[in-house]
Amino acid sequence: MPQVTLREILAANQDPNRVVGAFNIHNLEFIRGVVQAAESEKTPVIMMINEAVLKYGRIDCLGVAALSAAKAAEVPIAVMVDHGTDRAFLKECLDAGMDVMYDGSALPFEQNAAQTKEMVCYAHERGRCVEGEIGALGILEDGDDGVEQHLTTVREAVAFYEQTSVDVLAISVGNVHGLYHGEASINVERIEEIHAALGKVPVVMHGGSDIPIETIRRSVRAGIRKFNIATDLKIAYAQTMRELMHASPLPIQPLQLFPVVAKAVEEQARHKIRIFNGEDEG
Ligand code: 13P
Repeated sequence: MPQVTLREILAANQDPNRVVGAFNIHNLEFIRGVVQAAESEKTPVIMMINEAVLKYGRIDCLGVAALSAAKAAEVPIAVMVDHGTDRAFLKECLDAGMDVMYDGSALPFEQNAAQTKEMVCYAHERGRCVEGEIGALGILEDGDDGVEQHLTTVREAVAFYEQTSVDVLAISVGNVHGLYHGEASINVERIEEIHAALGKVPVVMHGGSDIPIETIRRSVRAGIRKFNIATDLKIAYAQTMRELMHASPLPIQPLQLFPVVAKAVEEQARHKIRIFNGEDEG
């Protein structure tokens, strides 16, 4: 398959009841798991590599592995850096053929917009795409208290888009990374309002793990076009690895371990893809 951009893969989904899954990968087993799940479901997906993970795994090693796997896949797959803050590094990633998320959400609005715009100009000159973020998602990780005051407002989302021309926009609507304290409390009405105001600009749900299926469906119908999953795959990987580490005799051959954890990632990714495709996975 020729490599696709973030913009192309999201534009190709015109079904309001479906959403494109974006899965964080960390090594070869995650790459295999996600690609095999996407191929078996005949569904395009996005592979994301967190900036810190990519700095550890290197652009010319983990980055190239993800890009090669995407190009060899039987379905369209986009590859992007997730939560990047190092603009010089992100420019290297764009040069290497990845799309990027520039995360300036911890900065004051004007600074976030200016720095995101710089990344957008650099990316668009090279035919690549940028996801930006407006709203404060990270500081909600300790619970839902005071969620309202950190939500992305419609005005902020529109002004941020107008100032940056980002291809894709991550918003804060009660979502948090990792596991939720109690049930996820997602403000679906806010998604609807932002989606209506932004029109065709795709909006993104970060912190997509541990959200009940019905809330996922309502969020998608309200306008979420990209749904990010990291933690649910990491749990599948770690739990399977723990079981293997308790086996006796200890399986020391890497090929006794790697395909097993890759399969666990694949099964969890497949489950999410089916939900994102609107299938009955209850
Ligand atoms: P989770 O770890 O909650 O799935 O969040 C993933 C994410 O948003 C990555 O950017």
